[in-house]
Amino acid sequence: MVFWKWGFVGILCATFVFTIGAVEHGQNHPTERISGSAGDVLEDNPVGRLKVFVYELPSKYNKKILQKDPRCLTHMFAAEIFMHRFLLSSPVRTLNPEEADWFYTPVYTTCDLTPNGLPLPFKSPRMMRSAIQLISSNWPYWNKTEGADHFFVTPHDFGACFHYQEEKAIERGILPLLQRATLVQTFGQRNHVCLKDGSITIPPYAPPQKMHAHLIPEKTPRSIFVYFRGLFYDVGNDPEGGYYARGARAAVWENFKDNPLFDISTDHPTTYYEDMQRAVFCLCPLGWAPWSPRLVEAVVFGCIPVIIADEIVLPFADAIPWEDIGVFVDEEDVAQLDTILTSIPPEVILRKQRLLANPSMKQAMLFPQPAKPGDAFHQVLNGLARKLPHDRSVFLKPREKVLNWTAGPVGDLKPW
Ligand SMILES: *[C@@H]1O[C@H](CO)[C@@H](O)[C@H](O)[C@H]1NC(C)=O
Ligand SMILES: *[C@@H]1O[C@H](CO)[C@@H](O)[C@H](O)[C@H]1NC(C)=O
Repeated sequence: MVFWKWGFVGILCATFVFTIGAVEHGQNHPTERISGSAGDVLEDNPVGRLKVFVYELPSKYNKKILQKDPRCLTHMFAAEIFMHRFLLSSPVRTLNPEEADWFYTPVYTTCDLTPNGLPLPFKSPRMMRSAIQLISSNWPYWNKTEGADHFFVTPHDFGACFHYQEEKAIERGILPLLQRATLVQTFGQRNHVCLKDGSITIPPYAPPQKMHAHLIPEKTPRSIFVYFRGLFYDVGNDPEGGYYARGARAAVWENFKDNPLFDISTDHPTTYYEDMQRAVFCLCPLGWAPWSPRLVEAVVFGCIPVIIADEIVLPFADAIPWEDIGVFVDEEDVAQLDTILTSIPPEVILRKQRLLANPSMKQAMLFPQPAKPGDAFHQVLNGLARKLPHDRSVFLKPREKVLNWTAGPVGDLKPW
C-alpha cells in the first residue's frame, strides 16, 4: 500500500520535473524585475547617501585574531572581517569623524575558534566591552549618543546575545552596552530578545569564488525534487533530542528518509553545490539558530528555498521578496512537507525560479572580493542610509547617561 502510494507520487513527480524542464527550455525567459516592499531597492547606490567613520583599533581586536586562526576568513561568520576590509576602501568612508553619519568599530567577535572551527563566544562580550571602553575614552563621539549612531557587525548565531544555545542566549540578552547601537547581524527572529528593532539582518557568509567554480550550465534539468544535506540530530550537544532545531530536522528525517522525492542525508558530497543546481526545492530548516548558509546557497543556485524556521527574519527583507521566491513551512507542519510541496502548481514554481534567476538578488546575498555594485556590502550601506537622518533624540545632553556599564552577567565585566 505504502509502496504504491510512493510509486504513484514518484511518477507524478517525474512528469512534473519533465514539464518544468520543457517549459524552461521553450522560452528564453527574461528575468523579472524585483519589487521589494521598499521598491527596487536592490539597485540603490549608497554612495553619496552616508559617510562612515572607521575607528582605528589596536590589531588585537581584529587582525591579530585572524592571524591566529585564518579559518575565520571562510566560515559562515566571516562577514565581520570582509565588512571591515570593504569599509576601509569604500567611497562612503570618511577620515573626518565630525562629518560622519555612522561610526564603525572593527571587532572580530567570532574568530576565536575551537579545534573543530566553531566560534567560542564566551569572551566576545568582554572583548566588545573593552573596544567600546576604548573608543569612548579616546574619541568624543560615543558619549554624544552612547552608540546610537554607531553600528556593529555581530554575526554570531544569536547576534549580540553571544551564545549558541538559544536558552542561554535569551537569558543573557543583548550586551547592555549595545542597547542603543545598530546591530548588523545574521540572526533574525521576530519577537526575540536577541533581535532589537532597527537591526539590519544580513546573509551569512558563503564563499563566492568557490560557489562560482561549481556552477553548471543553467539549462541543466532539475531532476531532484527536494534536496538537503546536513544534520538531523545533534547527539553530541542534544543527546535527548528535540532541542536541536526544535525537532524540525528530526521530523524531516523520520517522515521522509524513505521517500523517493526527498534526496536527504547527513553526507556532505563533493557535488553539494552542483546538486543544489539540479534540485527544485532546497530545505532550509533551522538548526541551533534559525538561519544557515543554505539560504544563500539556494538563492545563488536557483533552488527554491523551503524555509522551516518559525518567525525568521530574513536577510534584507525590505529589499528581497522572500515570500515570492521561497516556500514557508511551519515547523509543526513538517510531516506534511511532501503534500505541501507536491501541491504547488507548476506555474508558481516557474515564477519563483524566474525571480531567483535575477542576478541582482544573487549579488545581494554575497560578500565578494573585491566588492561589486549591489552586493551584500552595498545592501548593508543601503540599510544604514535608509535609517538617516538620525532622530534628534539620539543625541544626549552633555553629561547625560543612559547606559549602565555594570549591567549584565558579572562574568562579562572582567577585563578582556
Ligand atoms: C565618556 O564618558 C565616560 C564615562 O562617563 C568618561 O570616562 C570618558 O572620559 C568620556 N569620554 C570622553 C572622550 O570624554
Ligand atoms: C546598573 O546595573 C547594576 C547591575 O544590574 C545594578 O545593580 C545597578 O543598580 C544599575 N545602575 C543603575 C544606575 O541603574
